[in-house]
Amino acid sequence: MPARSDITYFGAGPALLPTDVLEKAAQALLDFNGTGLGIAEHSHRSELATSIINEAKVDLATYLDIPAADYEVLFMQGGGTGEFSASVYNLVGAWVARQHAAVLKDLGGSEAADEAAVVAALRAKVETDLKLDYIVTGGWSLKAYQEAVRLLGPEYVNLAADARLENGGKFGKIPDQASWKLSKDAALVYYCDNETVDGVEFPEFPSALAPKADGTGPIVVADMSSNILSRRIPVANHSLLFFGAQKNLGSTGVTVAVLKKTFLPPTITQPSPALMRRLGLPIPPIVLQYEIVAKNNSLYNTLSIFDVYVAGQVLKKLLSTFPNKVDGQQAVAEKKAEIIYSALEAHPDVYKIVPDKTARSRMNICFRVIKNGTTDESEKAFLEEATGLGLTGLKGHRSVGGIRASNYNSIPLEGAEKLAKLIEAFAKA
Ligand SMILES: Cc1ncc(COP(=O)(O)O)c(C=O)c1O
Repeated sequence: MPARSDITYFGAGPALLPTDVLEKAAQALLDFNGTGLGIAEHSHRSELATSIINEAKVDLATYLDIPAADYEVLFMQGGGTGEFSASVYNLVGAWVARQHAAVLKDLGGSEAADEAAVVAALRAKVETDLKLDYIVTGGWSLKAYQEAVRLLGPEYVNLAADARLENGGKFGKIPDQASWKLSKDAALVYYCDNETVDGVEFPEFPSALAPKADGTGPIVVADMSSNILSRRIPVANHSLLFFGAQKNLGSTGVTVAVLKKTFLPPTITQPSPALMRRLGLPIPPIVLQYEIVAKNNSLYNTLSIFDVYVAGQVLKKLLSTFPNKVDGQQAVAEKKAEIIYSALEAHPDVYKIVPDKTARSRMNICFRVIKNGTTDESEKAFLEEATGLGLTGLKGHRSVGGIRASNYNSIPLEGAEKLAKLIEAFAKA
């Protein structure tokens, strides 16, 4: 039976958590801060629960330099998948709210405007102007795109870029930004910063989505589920970014949405369900409505305070380890990725790195073992040797096969070095 200290787990999520955080969390499950009650038993409406939420929000904002005056941090449930839907509902709602205000103005103000005329004008706008743009660079952004199509209908959803078209039908490249077919004034432009299954990461924020000099620009939504906390993000370029906790932040069960406050009251109030019904547009389940979650400080319904606590402890550890905050972790993440990719590159006859060099993920390193031209057998042998050395969780996603080393923040430098050594030794054997 291996001990925890014998294992370096490269699974794609849930991922390793720091052992000292788990030890503290285990104690907190039994007795939180001498209250005689475990943290999973305390009311989510207790004062201590509120301070756990508030501290985690502040620590996240500090670590990532999120301007607290401009962004709201929301703890939600439903995972990244829930956010595929939430982003559509809420940003289509915000689009309708903006159009509604414009139509009312055109028709002489809310007092003067005839309701039927307002609805007719809005319907016409929905038909001609409502568009959501998706940049599809891997399996997760594809799922987000498909969810938007499912919720709204294909006529409203624009596949602005599809990486498979430039890469022989497979993911592995980021299409040239000049080729992206972005809509005018889209309700959102969506991208996934790091594609966990395909090992594709944007090397930097896409310049095609940057705000203009006057500050206006597209409404950008980013899925950062699998690279959050591992590099600096130009937060101000985003209207919404979201991530599940279970890779770099904490335990499965909590999802974070960071939303620009201008999408919340008093600037924007979601349209009434009655209006959305008349426009034939979907109405969000109330737990996915950001306005409701924000108004209730993430406690509209029962939130797992234990999961927020674990995330908070991971953030405290990061803040105490890296005085220069996320920049410190970024340097480590880059070094670990470099060590592993260099080992693979040294043996092109044995390993084939799956994504194009320009889009290689630092977090999910995907490769095939092609030794002697027998990929299946070679990969099996590689995985067996890895397991023998305590390097586990390396099997690629079931949809693409191969090997995937998920190199999240909790993989220590020595873990990356051990994997690089195996890559080297296996190639030479
Ligand atoms: C990039 C990315 N987005 C979204 C998801 C979906 O997250 P969840 O399973 O929490 O719904 C995942 C899951 O691994 C992911 O890696």
